[in-house]
Amino acid sequence: MENLSFEYNSDFSIENLSFKIEESSIYALTGNNGSGKTTVLRLLVGLLKPKEGKIKIFDEFLTRNRNQLWKLRQQIGFLFQNPDDQLFAPTIREDIGFGARNLGLEESEINDRVEWALDAVNLTQYGNSSPYYLSWGQKKRAALAGLLVMRPKLLILDEPFANLDFKSIYNHLQIFNTLKKEQKMTILFTTHNLFFIENWADKMLVLNDGKVMFEGLPEEGLKNPKVKEVLGSYTELLTLIDKK
Ligand SMILES: Nc1ncnc2c1ncn2[C@@H]1O[C@H](COP(=O)(O)OP(=O)(O)O)[C@@H](O)[C@H]1O
Ligand SMILES: [Mg+2]
Repeated sequence: MENLSFEYNSDFSIENLSFKIEESSIYALTGNNGSGKTTVLRLLVGLLKPKEGKIKIFDEFLTRNRNQLWKLRQQIGFLFQNPDDQLFAPTIREDIGFGARNLGLEESEINDRVEWALDAVNLTQYGNSSPYYLSWGQKKRAALAGLLVMRPKLLILDEPFANLDFKSIYNHLQIFNTLKKEQKMTILFTTHNLFFIENWADKMLVLNDGKVMFEGLPEEGLKNPKVKEVLGSYTELLTLIDKK
């Protein structure tokens, strides 16, 4: 993204946003609730139209014409913050197959990919269940499986670890790491959990009320006094908690 600006019909705006994500790297977008993370993701995939600035994706400028968006969306997997916004089919198996079916693959290839993805996210036994009855973590894994079947080049994950227990996070990280290694997938994710930025991200960008506060290496960003003040920390919370 280069010098991007955008505004909703409200007080919120994104101003002068520039950043670049290297192929096959893990890039973290962070900032407090309402800082604009989801908005940036939606701009990137053409769901929102910028007021100014340029977006280049896989070496092509984003023009948002129908054909281009169609082509791009076949190569980008977008995991929504809320899996209920993503799952819609009567069964998990049908839901996961939807994206692959849209790619126009052979039925046998689709079935192979669906079974592989169900297994990858540990949901084989729920294949014929309705998404409605799954837990949050299971829904999130089902939504992820629906992206994996498309073998995207770029995986965009909006708060992928929020509301997940440690076992599910472990399972997710295992999947992401395998994809990165075997398919050289690029991963862009949002989080306000610094653990993942410190230990997983190659680079980070901090948004504060729609403006870039920091862009660069996590080891530098996490030490930056302004970033620390804006994001807060457990240490700060501990000053309010008295177990005596
Ligand atoms: N469709 C919309 N119309 C108007 N304002 C919106 C819309 N979506 C989000 N916003 C506002 O934009 C700001 C950034 O939202 P968002 O990108 O969802 O932040 P984050 O993902 O960092 O929590 C918030 O103040 C939010 O209320
Ligand atoms: Mg968000």
